[in-house]
Amino acid sequence: MAAVPAFFGLFLLAVVTGQVVDITPQQAVRRVGEDLIVTCKVNYQAEACRMIVGQTSYLLRPGNQDGDVIYHGPGLDKGVCGMHIRRVKEEWNGNISCMIPPPRGSIELQATMRLIVAHAPELPVLIGPQQTTFHEGDRFEAQCVVARGRPAATIKWFLDDEALLGSELHEPSTEGESTSDLVTVRQNVTRVLRADDSGRRLTCRSEHEALEQYREASRQLQVHYPPKRVDADGNQLTIFGLKIGDQGRLNVTVRSNPPPSVEWTVGDQVLVAPNQNGDGTITAMPPVPLGNGFYNLTLILARVAKEDVERTYFLRAVNDLGREEVAVRISTMDEPAAGPQRSGVELDTGAIVGIVVGVLALLVAVFLVVFAKATDRWCFAGRSHHTDIPDGADSEAPLPPHDDIKGAENPSHDHEYISNGKHPEKKPDTAV
Ligand SMILES: *[C@@H]1O[C@H](CO)[C@@H](O)[C@H](O)[C@H]1NC(C)=O
Ligand SMILES: *[C@@H]1O[C@H](CO)[C@@H](O)[C@H](O)[C@H]1NC(C)=O
Ligand SMILES: *[C@@H]1O[C@H](CO)[C@@H](O)[C@H](O)[C@H]1NC(C)=O
Ligand SMILES: *[C@@H]1O[C@H](CO)[C@@H](O)[C@H](O)[C@H]1NC(C)=O
Repeated sequence: MAAVPAFFGLFLLAVVTGQVVDITPQQAVRRVGEDLIVTCKVNYQAEACRMIVGQTSYLLRPGNQDGDVIYHGPGLDKGVCGMHIRRVKEEWNGNISCMIPPPRGSIELQATMRLIVAHAPELPVLIGPQQTTFHEGDRFEAQCVVARGRPAATIKWFLDDEALLGSELHEPSTEGESTSDLVTVRQNVTRVLRADDSGRRLTCRSEHEALEQYREASRQLQVHYPPKRVDADGNQLTIFGLKIGDQGRLNVTVRSNPPPSVEWTVGDQVLVAPNQNGDGTITAMPPVPLGNGFYNLTLILARVAKEDVERTYFLRAVNDLGREEVAVRISTMDEPAAGPQRSGVELDTGAIVGIVVGVLALLVAVFLVVFAKATDRWCFAGRSHHTDIPDGADSEAPLPPHDDIKGAENPSHDHEYISNGKHPEKKPDTAV
């Protein structure tokens, strides 16, 4: 509410003194060589129009359209003092002011806008720890510096193609140079390293108005961790589906960086992969890299014998950071069906369908019974009137020989049962 009188007051002040110069835009970013239009407006007929760009004062005349800085607008008599700069120069970075003679008095009216002449920053620099490898769980911190851009460059972070956002990013800090307006931006990123980060590339990308293309600085992360099983927890594993007399492959997938050294123990034989036992019946294969630090560790039994099924095969995978030990058993049975959770869900679905079907069937049955009773059809026909007739009579009875449609549905041919008003033609036969 207070805004209206306030605005009116301002308007009145403007009308009375004529001292408001409206400048648009108030700030603009341009590359060297691009054009720019700056417009100043007053609410009276201007007699002249001047713009101060850099160190130079330009007198702008609507009739003169020669040169790189010319008048632009509908005319001084409309109160418009506009300027068209055809090609922005590097040294014009800074304030641009328009100067307009006052309606009376001798002090020129003026307004100022800010022109930022874009200046490409230096290449981004990624500053981080000297070490090249880290451990899982380490807190990694790096800083990206993009120096001397105007305006400040924008920094974005990526881990491979994934943009880093949120809590891992710190607020960027800027530091300007007063004379040139060139700004240096710095931003830190911190991340608790995971096994998955190993081999990924951390990238700092700098984007800037003065550049067509972004620029990047990056480094690859190496994360080390001890061998660990990936298919399941625990130190027990059963391999199913082996056949007596066939070759048996015992495979375990582990994740490890650096790669694991592998040792299998079968009874009193210890095989350091790759290796074979004396008679060549058991072979410990070299770890097969599956990528991303995953390895397939395999022990091959040339022919699975009955006693092999009773044994336990001990696998030990070791690297600098630790070890994983797994007791492997084999079975000639097929792998048990899908986990309890999934089959539970399937059972639930089946149960729901069953319940729905059951309830529907019950409803239909109840409806039919009620309907039949209410209308005295079918089995209920006449029963309420003839409670003295034994129940067995209707169920044993053959279909009625006559072509009566209602009667055809009735399991009874006994005339006494067709004694109600539904079968008036039978009425004479009825012995009530
Ligand atoms: C540019 O204009 C701003 C705002 O009007 C003012 O604060 C600043 O001192 C001016 N800069 C120069 C170099 O004149
Ligand atoms: C940003 O990271 C650099 C390099 O890791 C570090 O030296 C600096 O202290 C960090 N600054 C802040 C504010 O966290
Ligand atoms: C063994 O290898 C097969 C085929 O790659 C894989 O599906 C299975 O999960 C592996 N078993 C273990 C225990 O790693
Ligand atoms: C892993 O090992 C098993 C058994 O040797 C083999 O069947 C399977 O093909 C291997 N998987 C891959 C991806 O190499």
